[in-house]
Amino acid sequence: MIGKAADNHVAIGHFNASTVDGVWAIARAAQSLNLPVIIGASEGERDFFGVRQIAAVVKSVREELNHPIFLNADHTYSFDRVKEAVDAGFDAVILDGSKLPFEENIEETKKSVQYARQVNPEIIVEGELGYIGTSSKVLDSLPEGVTLEEKDLPGPEDAARFVSETGVDLFAPAVGNVHGMFRVGGDPALHIDLVKRVREAAKVPLVLHGASGNSDDDVRRAIAAGVAIVHVNTELRVAYRDALKLSLQDNPDEVAPYKVLKLAMFAMEKVVEKKLELFNGQ
Ligand code: G3H
Ligand code: ZN
Repeated sequence: MIGKAADNHVAIGHFNASTVDGVWAIARAAQSLNLPVIIGASEGERDFFGVRQIAAVVKSVREELNHPIFLNADHTYSFDRVKEAVDAGFDAVILDGSKLPFEENIEETKKSVQYARQVNPEIIVEGELGYIGTSSKVLDSLPEGVTLEEKDLPGPEDAARFVSETGVDLFAPAVGNVHGMFRVGGDPALHIDLVKRVREAAKVPLVLHGASGNSDDDVRRAIAAGVAIVHVNTELRVAYRDALKLSLQDNPDEVAPYKVLKLAMFAMEKVVEKKLELFNGQ
């Protein structure tokens, strides 16, 4: 499916969930548009849900809806946690070594690829190069350690070496993107030309992280330049939080969680739908 998306110059949406209503919101949005989707759970998100539990829920929703919904162990910072997710049956995993020195990042990622493939030959493994921040939150300033200038970002040669030495299926480069979204003014522009050059050198589909706050136009151009998966989290979290606030304000006597949370879940679903349309040129 990733290969097909790349060939068609569209992208598969990757959206994070940490609760069961989040899983439903993403799954229903994808089903209503008849598009495949990836649910991401970072270390913190899957710890809250339960690592084996989120794997079981996503599998069960996929079977019930009879729809291609996959689960990715998003931003995994150690081999042990990669192992845990692979053993729990995740469909994909990311070893995020973007904060490590280059050689160490290669070593950790390679070790993760080897383990994951040996347990599940079908699994998808992604590697990352270039630090873009760690949190999906509303930003007032650029997170420490993040660089946006093209001259300071990893180039095509680094990308080619990283991919060929690690054997990853997917590559997530820093291309001016940042995790989280700026409170005002939108996120900085992406380096589309760099996306193109990195895609050619890497020879595997690219993943764009941190797409909350980026303009629709930038995201469209990044997809045209070789991005096959786009990650969005903060925009979902903001929609969920805002709707939850309203729901509590408007129904101060309501105590049933499934009633209070329903509006938040629908708000998340709407954002996922809008993003999926964007990623698929609709
Ligand atoms: O892996 C998660 C994403 O990269 C989310 O980034 O919160 O900026 O949308 P975002
Ligand atoms: Zn990310």
